[in-house]
Amino acid sequence: MANSETRNPIIVALDVPGAAHALALVEQLAGTVGGFKIGSELFTLAGPDIVQKVRATGAAVFLDLKFHDIPNTVARAVAAATRLDVQMLTVHTSGGLEMMRAAEAAAQQTAAELGRPAPLVLGVTVLTSLGTEELGQIGCDTNVGRQVERLARLAMAAGLRGLVCSPLEVVGLRQILPDRITLVTPGIRFGPGTPDDQKRTLSPREAIEAGADWLVIGRPIYAAPDPRAAALKVLESLR
Ligand code: C5P
Repeated sequence: MANSETRNPIIVALDVPGAAHALALVEQLAGTVGGFKIGSELFTLAGPDIVQKVRATGAAVFLDLKFHDIPNTVARAVAAATRLDVQMLTVHTSGGLEMMRAAEAAAQQTAAELGRPAPLVLGVTVLTSLGTEELGQIGCDTNVGRQVERLARLAMAAGLRGLVCSPLEVVGLRQILPDRITLVTPGIRFGPGTPDDQKRTLSPREAIEAGADWLVIGRPIYAAPDPRAAALKVLESLR
C-alpha cells in the first residue's frame, strides 16, 4: 500500500458476514483493487485467520478495528496487528496524544524487529455518525468541523502519518496538513442509485481530485451484481 501515483487506490471493505464470502470476493477482485479492509464484524467472526488468508493471496490488508484504550493496551494491539502483516490499521484520535504516540511507536518498533515496513497507523477523528448535537451530548461543545481539525492536529503532533476522513473533509484537511499525510476516505458513491446510509458522499474521481489517497468502497462493489465489473468501472472512472 505504498503512497505512490501508480498504485490502485481502491480498498474494498469486506463487510460480509463470513470468511467464505470474504475470500470469494477477494478471489473475484484479485488484481482489480489495491487492498481489502477487514472491520469489526468480519474480524469478530473470523479472527486473525481471515487476515492471514487475505494476506496469503498477496493482497494488502487494512485492519479497521479503531483501537481506543489506554496507551499500553493500544500499543500491544498495534504490535499484534503489525505481526499479522497488515498494511494499514486505525486508532481513535480521541484516545489522546499519548495513546497515538504509543500506537505509532509500536508499529515502527514491531515492524523494525520483523524487518518489514511499518503499517500506516490511521487516526479516526469524528465518526460521521456524529453531528454537533451528538458531540454536545458527550461533553464536546464545538462543531464537527472544528473538532475534526483539532483532532487532526493532535494526530500530527503524535506523529501519525495518516487519517481517515469523510469525502467532504478532504479539502479542508489538505489545507492544514502536510502533503506527506495519507488521507483515506470512505463514503464513496457512483452512478445512479441509492446512497443508502451514507449521507456525505463523493464519486471516486471527485474524492481523488479533492486530495484523497485511498478510497474505501464497500457496498457499491461487494453488493454489485458483478463486483469485479464494478471495481473495473471505478478504476476506469479514475483514468
Ligand atoms: O458500504 P460502504 O461503501 O458505505 O462502506 C464504507 C466502509 O467504510 C464501511 O466499512 C464503513 O464502516 C467504513 N467507514 C465509513 N465511514 C466512516 C468510517 C468508516 O463508512 N466515517
